[in-house]
Amino acid sequence: MKPANKRSWVLKQRPASVPTRADVDIIESPVPETPDNHLLIATSYFSLDPAIRGWMSDTPSYLPPIGLGEPIRATVAGTVVESRSPDFTAGDRVYGMSGWETLCTAPADYFSKIPEDSPFPDHYYLSILGAVGLTPYFGLLSAGDIKSGQTLLMSAAAGAVGSIGGQIAKIKGLRVVGLAGSDEKCQWVTEELGFDDCLNYKTCGDLEAAIRRACPEGVDVFFDNVGGETLDAALMNLNKDATVVFCGSISSYNSSEPVPGPYNWWQVLARSVTVKGYLISDYLTRFGEGQAQLTQWLQADQLTFKEHIVDGFDHCLEAYNLLFEGKNNGKLMVKV
Ligand SMILES: NC(=O)c1ccc[n+]([C@@H]2O[C@H](COP(=O)([O-])OP(=O)(O)OC[C@H]3O[C@@H](n4cnc5c(N)ncnc54)[C@H](OP(=O)(O)O)[C@@H]3O)[C@@H](O)[C@H]2O)c1
Repeated sequence: MKPANKRSWVLKQRPASVPTRADVDIIESPVPETPDNHLLIATSYFSLDPAIRGWMSDTPSYLPPIGLGEPIRATVAGTVVESRSPDFTAGDRVYGMSGWETLCTAPADYFSKIPEDSPFPDHYYLSILGAVGLTPYFGLLSAGDIKSGQTLLMSAAAGAVGSIGGQIAKIKGLRVVGLAGSDEKCQWVTEELGFDDCLNYKTCGDLEAAIRRACPEGVDVFFDNVGGETLDAALMNLNKDATVVFCGSISSYNSSEPVPGPYNWWQVLARSVTVKGYLISDYLTRFGEGQAQLTQWLQADQLTFKEHIVDGFDHCLEAYNLLFEGKNNGKLMVKV
């Protein structure tokens, strides 16, 4: 039976920095009628992505800002409770874009079905088989156009996107050097994931010099998840005709002031560098191809990944902020 009420995390005010409890609220409200071509979905998992922080701000981006009073936008997995679309029926397991709500009403074309015969748990469709696996897959193979024998530098290397990306590059025959925020993370990516080297950017001292030592032949592809000082240090180590895949800039997501730099931007000209602004949603029509390849690598035990699943709808905010402290241990999600 259709529940009468739902709970939602909504945006109360635009955060000045890391989101606090004053910026977001939990409300209870009646479940609305499901309009034509929409689904009512009982959510089981929320994806906690750094990008959500950008959507909380009123700045121009690839999606409109989350409106004040509106649910926090996120990709979710769940089960269809009511379908007003010919493509879905109640009971279908689905994943797609909606919000941090126990029940969400969303356009059917924002959602895909989890195959009935999928050997994987539903939360894989928010992690390795969702944006987290697909982002480095297309970011490296398409936007980065990586080639065997090249050197790849990966920032946020032990994170969800970075850890999978480094492994994809190893499969493709690159030398892979990571940057991560603790010795334990560096050890994990080198010893368990097969990265050739990893620098603890918090303790290595002069990052530019440390990258030079770790990449004696220079960097051919820099896959950047961090921006800021990390980007500046990498720019000074790029080879001629190198590529920078601009995937994210987490170091600046909570800045309330304009972000300065990159100070070494001139190197883009000096080294004839290609900078690719990269967005996974541009590859929507090719997701099936990416999922098929990731599935094959998973089943051949060629990919290792971690998921960090926090239990409980009420814990979304504290869980979310782990991302900005580097305290997430793999792809961060909430089990509703
Ligand atoms: N372009 C796209 O389509 C797309 C799609 C998905 C994700 N992304 C981007 O990919 C990046 C990684 O996302 P994810 O979901 O995989 O998160 P994640 O890497 O699992 O978690 C974020 C990590 O970033 C690092 N970090 C946080 N604040 C930092 C700072 N101030 N300076 C340096 N490093 C910092 C932390 O690791 P350390 O402990 O190593 O510092 C933290 O664990 C983000 O920038 C995200 O926006 C882009």
